[in-house]
Amino acid sequence: MASVRQLQYFLFLILISPLPTAFTAVTLKNSLPGCPAKCGNITVPYPFGMGAGCFREGFNVTCNESTVPPRAFLSPYSNKFYDVQLMDINITSAEARAKNKNIGYTCYNATNRIGIMTLYFHKAFLFSFRRNIFIAIGCNALAYIAMNDEFYKLGCISNCKLKNSTTGDGGSCNGLGCCQTAIPAGISEYIVDWGNMHNLAWWFNPCNYAMLVEDGWYEFHVRDLNGLDFYERNKNGVPVVLEWAIRDNGTCQDGVEKSPKAACLSNHSFCYNTRNGEGYLCQCIQGYEGNPYLPDGCIDIDECKSLDKYPCSANAICINTDGNFTCSCVKGTYGNPYVEDGNCIKKPEKFPYRLAIGLAVGLGVGTGFSTFLLYFAIRKRIKLLENSKKENMKQKFFNQNKGFLLQQRIASDEDATQRLRIYRLDELETATNRFDKALILGQGGHGEVYKGILSDQRVVAIKKSKIADQAEIDQFINEVVILSQVNHRNVVKLYGCCLEAEVPLLVYEFISNGTLFDHLHAEPCSLTWRHRLRIMLEAARAIAYLHSSASISVFHRDVKSSNILLDSYFTPKISDFGASRCVQLDQTGITTGIQGTFGYLDPEYYYTGRLTPKSDVYSFGVILAELLTREKPNSVLFEGGNLVVYFTSAMRENRLFEILDPQVALNEDQRTELKAVANLADMCMRMKGEERPTMKEVEIRLEVLWQSSHNHEHPFTSQNLVKRKLMHPDITGGDDTIRPYSFEQEVSPSNFSQ
Ligand SMILES: *[C@@H]1O[C@H](CO)[C@@H](O)[C@H](O)[C@H]1NC(C)=O
Ligand SMILES: *[C@@H]1O[C@H](CO)[C@@H](O)[C@H](O)[C@H]1NC(C)=O
Ligand SMILES: *[C@@H]1O[C@H](CO)[C@@H](O)[C@H](O)[C@H]1NC(C)=O
Ligand SMILES: *[C@@H]1O[C@H](CO)[C@@H](O)[C@H](O)[C@H]1NC(C)=O
Ligand SMILES: *[C@@H]1O[C@H](CO)[C@@H](O)[C@H](O)[C@H]1NC(C)=O
Ligand SMILES: *[C@@H]1O[C@H](CO)[C@@H](O)[C@H](O)[C@H]1NC(C)=O
Ligand SMILES: *[C@@H]1O[C@H](CO)[C@@H](O)[C@H](O)[C@H]1NC(C)=O
Ligand SMILES: *[C@@H]1O[C@H](CO)[C@@H](O)[C@H](O)[C@H]1NC(C)=O
Ligand SMILES: *[C@@H]1O[C@H](CO)[C@@H](O)[C@H](O)[C@H]1NC(C)=O
Repeated sequence: MASVRQLQYFLFLILISPLPTAFTAVTLKNSLPGCPAKCGNITVPYPFGMGAGCFREGFNVTCNESTVPPRAFLSPYSNKFYDVQLMDINITSAEARAKNKNIGYTCYNATNRIGIMTLYFHKAFLFSFRRNIFIAIGCNALAYIAMNDEFYKLGCISNCKLKNSTTGDGGSCNGLGCCQTAIPAGISEYIVDWGNMHNLAWWFNPCNYAMLVEDGWYEFHVRDLNGLDFYERNKNGVPVVLEWAIRDNGTCQDGVEKSPKAACLSNHSFCYNTRNGEGYLCQCIQGYEGNPYLPDGCIDIDECKSLDKYPCSANAICINTDGNFTCSCVKGTYGNPYVEDGNCIKKPEKFPYRLAIGLAVGLGVGTGFSTFLLYFAIRKRIKLLENSKKENMKQKFFNQNKGFLLQQRIASDEDATQRLRIYRLDELETATNRFDKALILGQGGHGEVYKGILSDQRVVAIKKSKIADQAEIDQFINEVVILSQVNHRNVVKLYGCCLEAEVPLLVYEFISNGTLFDHLHAEPCSLTWRHRLRIMLEAARAIAYLHSSASISVFHRDVKSSNILLDSYFTPKISDFGASRCVQLDQTGITTGIQGTFGYLDPEYYYTGRLTPKSDVYSFGVILAELLTREKPNSVLFEGGNLVVYFTSAMRENRLFEILDPQVALNEDQRTELKAVANLADMCMRMKGEERPTMKEVEIRLEVLWQSSHNHEHPFTSQNLVKRKLMHPDITGGDDTIRPYSFEQEVSPSNFSQ
């Protein structure tokens, strides 16, 4: 299901997504009309500007185009010593990065020192106290930063006896060769000062440096203690982050933004006070973006075209509105269209009703119908269809649907004759109130599943498929007949079918509690570890039984969590044998068209087309991983990897406990069980089929694990297990290791059927 939803989302995105050109058509205004927007590759947004009439007072930028690339400078009138070169300007964060040439240094010989002191100043700008630090480099350095007329003074000390007594080479500024300190808010200028002492380390570290610099830029290196190298390398400036603001008198509370000189000119903008110094800033209100300092600068964000994330549920429709957006589920789906996943789905499925064809076809895999079914448990003798002669149409459909063939085939099989029932159309019409739409449990491209109540009060699920291709009907007959021999408590029962309608109708046992997938991926997940362990065990039993215990071997081919139904005691029931194939026991493998569901599909089968029971083992391994992590197998979890890649690489790197569902990983007692199941999942998901265990081996391992973990009786423990334990008191299991394969012999095959 989820795979289909993803595909739908994908197609949906393709349909609704604008082409990149359409997206760039909405260009944000950044400068006043007629004013240059860029200096080289640096965007100069208003209130900054170049040329008369293009900037707000205090934000004059000049562009020197005689260099390559051109360089932008803050106008020098407000700078006492030299131009401040800008590296970038950010309107949203009200920051600008500039080159700081004010690197203080002082150098020594045995007797004297030669130092410099400089000043860095601009009245409309303050140094960001959040994003800059003051650092000093040297082995006997006491450096001060004196700020705003030396009212503030702070500094740090760095020492090291020898170069090799530093410990931070390659990064850490830790006081040995390099020290650092944070600065307070409100600083617009500083000078570097040095302690009044001689540098005792002059003989190996003649020069000390100190500067204000963007936090994270500097990495300490021992080589920076040599000569004047550091200064020579950085004399064109080190990055420093400036915070700018509209520093007219007043704050937002004073109503400055409404004054004639107000800066927040755009509709959909608001004023806020700067956190560094006095002054205010402007911002677009939520749902708008752009430049709030320009009239009409704030532009509605088209959230629906967001390239990061589609804001609605996968198959919901997004409509952009002024300053917001709305989501609505597409026709025929229900849920909260604003929530990312698990919403806007077809009516909750009570019954396996697969749309797997969608993705498979999309992949060129050709999945086919998972709609068809399976395996019949017949209760009554076949009734001959007395009415059919009267009603020509019914008879026609009956023939078309190979009703007689089926009758013959079933009649030749004593067992089946006792279990399978062929229903008349009118019986099923009565049961479903003439296929009342209100009784639909699930529906999709292949038809509908109705809830029905038979005349004997039995609640059933009736699948009405849309398939009417003759070849498919032949297949259906074949499978129904063969699978009618399968009888297992963990496989959904097919009570019978009706062949008088245009398409075959299938009548199943009604399973009340949804799919394993629904439970597992619901928030919060109601399945405890013990539930999960038991579900794994019983599902493994059913699949192992299908592989080897039935008189013919049945390969399910579409094992996945959404094909495991749960009843009200969380007893799993394997369903949806539409893709399944029966194989004579002496056959080791058959070559078929590829069917299955993305995320669970055995890669070896996918590439070779050769179907073996190990394909189901692979899919089952994926379910184990899914139960352990609660990650969806068909979603991309990281860097293009799906659950299998994610899981197996975590196993290889010994990071299992990082990826487990926290709901189960937290319990210390379960660690050995978790590890054992994870190992088992890993083995099942091996790339080569022959390296995977058989389903029977998987079953035995889970059985042993369940028994050993299980001294305290669980309320949902099946009686079957208790019985088995009594019969085999020696099956107690190890503590954290799993029994070897040879253990299999201890469990006689007769224990596996009921
Ligand atoms: C501008 O170009 C220079 C050199 O090509 C580059 O280092 C710098 O990061 C660019 N700046 C911006 C804001 O793109
Ligand atoms: C532009 O830069 C060049 C090279 O640094 C310099 O010689 C020139 O004076 C600058 N022009 C202006 C107008 O500052
Ligand atoms: C902006 O700065 C440039 C360069 O310093 C200067 O020539 C110009 O007069 C300034 N413009 C205004 C309006 O102050
Ligand atoms: C500007 O700053 C905001 C907020 O810190 C940040 O999200 C955005 O990426 C920055 N823009 C650029 C171009 O760096
Ligand atoms: C140290 O430098 C000073 C000033 O440059 C110079 O007068 C003095 O001779 C130098 N001392 C030594 C030992 O080199
Ligand atoms: C540091 O260097 C000195 C001389 O170069 C040497 O004697 C000393 O053993 C070195 N110390 C370490 C810890 O390497
Ligand atoms: C701020 O107020 C001072 C004194 O009240 C005044 O001299 C100055 O011109 C005002 N500045 C602005 C930008 O309004
Ligand atoms: C901005 O708001 C004003 C007053 O509310 C209105 O007259 C004007 O049309 C608005 N401009 C835009 C572009 O919405
Ligand atoms: C956008 O719409 C949602 C739901 O309709 C509402 O909760 C939210 O507050 C709105 N956001 C804005 C910025 O108006």
